[in-house]
Amino acid sequence: MTQARKLAAGNWKMNGNRAALAELEALARAHPDPSVDILICPPATLIQTASAAMADTAIQIGGQDCHAKESGAHTGDISADMLIDAGATSVILGHSERREDHEESSEDVRAKARTAQAAGLVAIICVGESLDQREANNTLDIIGGQLAASLPDGCTAANTVVAYEPIWAIGTGKVPTTAQIDEVHDFIRTRLIRRFGEAEGGALPLLYGGSVKPGNAVEIFATDNVDGALVGGASLKAGDFSPIISALEAST
Ligand code: 13P
Repeated sequence: MTQARKLAAGNWKMNGNRAALAELEALARAHPDPSVDILICPPATLIQTASAAMADTAIQIGGQDCHAKESGAHTGDISADMLIDAGATSVILGHSERREDHEESSEDVRAKARTAQAAGLVAIICVGESLDQREANNTLDIIGGQLAASLPDGCTAANTVVAYEPIWAIGTGKVPTTAQIDEVHDFIRTRLIRRFGEAEGGALPLLYGGSVKPGNAVEIFATDNVDGALVGGASLKAGDFSPIISALEAST
């Protein structure tokens, strides 16, 4: 199977103002020539300044959402093209917080992903089960359904990343066992290959997200089919995110 590229991605969620750009500068200084891709998705207000500040570094900047339409009367929303204009290379789509807070369905996520990819962004598409769904032994059914409905046709290793984020692990300090991560990632990989073929489905980066910290990153990155992480809280400080990046580099 083709080796997927490795990606350490940070999702700042609704955290950070201009003062937080100092963390990006520190991260860039700590990783001048990384062997893995590094992406930070700050709040929309910081994308343009962050991408300008990171222009001569290895750190890429992404968005946390975009609209499914290319432009128009959608007050408060941001288009894929605007993200690119501001310097973003990627966009997180279908995060469980958006599925919950904004009632985004997998069909909404698929429409957004199609628009984002067409504009030239990498779509980082999130899937994940709730605690109730896991305890009812429905995890793989839920993930399979979300994958099938959230990913548009024609996804490639170049324009799509899938992030497995069990909802119960996000911001809780609870992490699945590596056996649980392995089971879900193996399942996702099989589905991706079946739908998009060995060359694309086999090489499409598959991230784990949910309470990734410096202390558990080495173990998580040693798991099969884990090509990196989507990190929330521990991406806010360079001192926390940097050892996670180093652990991913060491795992390659
Ligand atoms: P935490 O790393 O804070 O658990 O957040 C994970 C997440 O939701 C990243 O998108």
